[in-house]
Amino acid sequence: MPDETPEPQVIALLKARRSVRQFTDESVPPATLRLLLEAAMAAPSAAASDPWEFVVVTEPERLAALRKRLLFGRYEAPAAVVVCGNTAVAHNSAARHYWLQDCSAAMENLLIAASGLGLGAVWIGLYPHEAAQAAVRQVLTIPEGVVPMGLAYVGHAVETPSPRTRYDAHRVYWEQYEPRKRRAKKKDAKHQV
Ligand SMILES: Cc1cc2nc3c(=O)[nH]c(=O)nc-3n(C[C@H](O)[C@H](O)[C@H](O)COP(=O)(O)O)c2cc1C
Repeated sequence: MPDETPEPQVIALLKARRSVRQFTDESVPPATLRLLLEAAMAAPSAAASDPWEFVVVTEPERLAALRKRLLFGRYEAPAAVVVCGNTAVAHNSAARHYWLQDCSAAMENLLIAASGLGLGAVWIGLYPHEAAQAAVRQVLTIPEGVVPMGLAYVGHAVETPSPRTRYDAHRVYWEQYEPRKRRAKKKDAKHQV
C-alpha cells in the first residue's frame, strides 16, 4: 500500500531546487538579492566563524566579462553572486579548516532561497579551479587571500525543471558501513527507507 503521508513542505522545497541555466531578461530587485544574502548568511558555520564575503554582480558588462571567461558558466543571467572565502574576516581560527564547508553551506542556502522565492539559479564551481578563480578575481577585482569559492547565477527561469531527489537506498547504511552492500531483499523491506 503506497504511503499516503503528504510530503512536508520543507522537503518539497528542497526537491524543487534545481539548476536553472536559462533566464529571462527580467532583473532581480536589490531587495530580493538582499533576501538571498540573508539566507546565505543564515548558514551553519564552524564555531560561527563566518569566513565568507559576497560579491553581487548586476552590471551587464561585468556579467558579460564573467561569461566570456568562465568555460562552464556561460549563462546569460541578470545577476550573479560570488561566494568568497576569507579567513581574514572570520571571527576565529575555525575558518582555517572549515571555510570551504561554511561557504558551501552559504551557497546552498542561497540556492534554496532563490528557488523558494520563485527564482532560478545555478552554482558555478570556481574553487579549486585556478583558472576559473583567476578569471573571476580579475573581473571583480578580488584580492589574493580572498578565495572566490563559487558563483551563483540568479534570475527568472525560462523553464522551471521538475522537482526531484536522487535518493538511492543503496547509498544508505544503517548503524555501520558494509563494504559490499547487499541488494535489498523482500524480507529486509522494513529496514529499507
Ligand atoms: C560544486 C558545484 C559546481 C558546479 N559547477 C557547475 C558549473 O560549472 N556549470 C554548471 O552548469 N553547473 C554546475 N553545477 C550544477 C550541477 O551540475 C547540478 O547541481 C547537478 O547537475 C544536479 O542538478 P540539479 O542542481 O538540478 O539538482 C555545479 C554544482 C556544484 C555543487
